[in-house]
Amino acid sequence: MKTALIILAAGKGTRMNSDLPKVLHPIAGAPMLHHAMRAGAVLDPAHTVVVAGYGAEAVAASVRGVDPTAQVVIQNEQLGTAHAAAQAREALAGFDGLAIVLFGDTPFVSPSTLEALAGSAADVTVLGFEAADPARYGRLVMNGDQLERIVEFKDATEAERAITLCNSGVLAAPAPLLFDLIDAVGNDNAQNEYYLTDLPRLARARGLSVAVERCAEAETLGINSRAELAAADAQFQATARADLMESGVTLVAPDTVYLSLDTVVGRDALIEPHVVFGPGVTVESGATIRAFSHLEGCHVSRGAIVGPYARLRPGTELAEDVRIGNFVELKNATLAPGAKVNHLSYVGDASIGEASNIGAGTITCNYDGVMKHRTEIGARAFIGSNTMLVAPVSIGDEAMTGSGSVITSDVEDGALAIARAPQVEKPGMARKLFEMLKAKKARQSRGS
Ligand code: UD1
Ligand code: MG
Repeated sequence: MKTALIILAAGKGTRMNSDLPKVLHPIAGAPMLHHAMRAGAVLDPAHTVVVAGYGAEAVAASVRGVDPTAQVVIQNEQLGTAHAAAQAREALAGFDGLAIVLFGDTPFVSPSTLEALAGSAADVTVLGFEAADPARYGRLVMNGDQLERIVEFKDATEAERAITLCNSGVLAAPAPLLFDLIDAVGNDNAQNEYYLTDLPRLARARGLSVAVERCAEAETLGINSRAELAAADAQFQATARADLMESGVTLVAPDTVYLSLDTVVGRDALIEPHVVFGPGVTVESGATIRAFSHLEGCHVSRGAIVGPYARLRPGTELAEDVRIGNFVELKNATLAPGAKVNHLSYVGDASIGEASNIGAGTITCNYDGVMKHRTEIGARAFIGSNTMLVAPVSIGDEAMTGSGSVITSDVEDGALAIARAPQVEKPGMARKLFEMLKAKKARQSRGS
């Protein structure tokens, strides 16, 4: 059956105490909403409808960033989860497949759980879990294999609060039935809200079947505060690290490596302690990322060695066997096979040819205060230590620059460019200077 996702994301998230809408707070470098969308993508949904409210413009922009085909609808007033889901009605007009309601603040529902939910034979299926600490979750009141009703914590009796089978919030029903049932939802409850959790009771009253699909509690983790956000990130990291190791990546000290939602690392890559992967990083098989390196928006090819203490910023492309050493910052830079930047350099808006060596302390002066400019370095070039490459500038194949040069014009293939003050030597002058200075110091200490 075709599916549609309705992702509820209109709440402000008061307990986040933030100007940023809750669903845009990041977990592993991506807004929590993207995690939910990504999990749902496994169903290849015909429609994805995100219900936004608080900070709707920012939410819409973020949604479009990952899925331009997703629709964003607005819930102007947050009158409850059923009222929120109802806002998707027009977007799904004429759609008679299965609608699955997800919460934007419940990012870890797994693809396999969603597949199981989509395969349910019941009219309405609710995703439930056995809670270690049921706390304030809605409770699932079963009758045999049928879910009779969901009771919200605030409306529950003592006996109902003793139930440990809880509501994740995720629910599935054919779209026409879903909207039909939502029409019958009232707001006569402790919070005067239109609860989506009323659907099972309404469906049972019509003699429809309501099933519970169970998942692990970790999948239903909901985020309402910064502390829960941090806990969710920690949970993501633990799973992602385990997955990487399982796939053949060595993490020397896994607990110290920070991964993003989209981090890709190939088999037999080696990741040393305290490496941070920001968004958009791919590392090929057999590459090594040494300790304390920070990478984002970059690609590291097979056999390359990066760090320790390297910073790879967006747009960095390292070909096979490149060497990047300590305290090197790269941005929007392409390095051909075997190129080396081993110490204390900034290389930005640049391309470096095959097997070229960039000496310690080299800086591409890419910014003139208004515009950015490129530096092009050919193959097998040698850039002397502490060279300033004032862009736009190009250095030819097999060219050299003298240490300490400030290179402001292009250097042709095979040429040596030296651009620094010539050395002057004054015989005996140093000794004289030392004596003068010592005498001065002695006069001063007598005077004091
Ligand atoms: C909800 C469930 C509860 C379940 C729990 C799981 C209801 C009534 N209760 O409670 O049974 O155990 O989730 O975490 O559904 N939202 C809107 N518009 C609204 C209200 C909410 O978009 O008018 C969105 C929120 O942004 C959030 C989601 O719906 O993403 C859930 O809302 P929330 O207020 O967190 O519900 P809970 O009280 O956690
Ligand atoms: Mg919640």
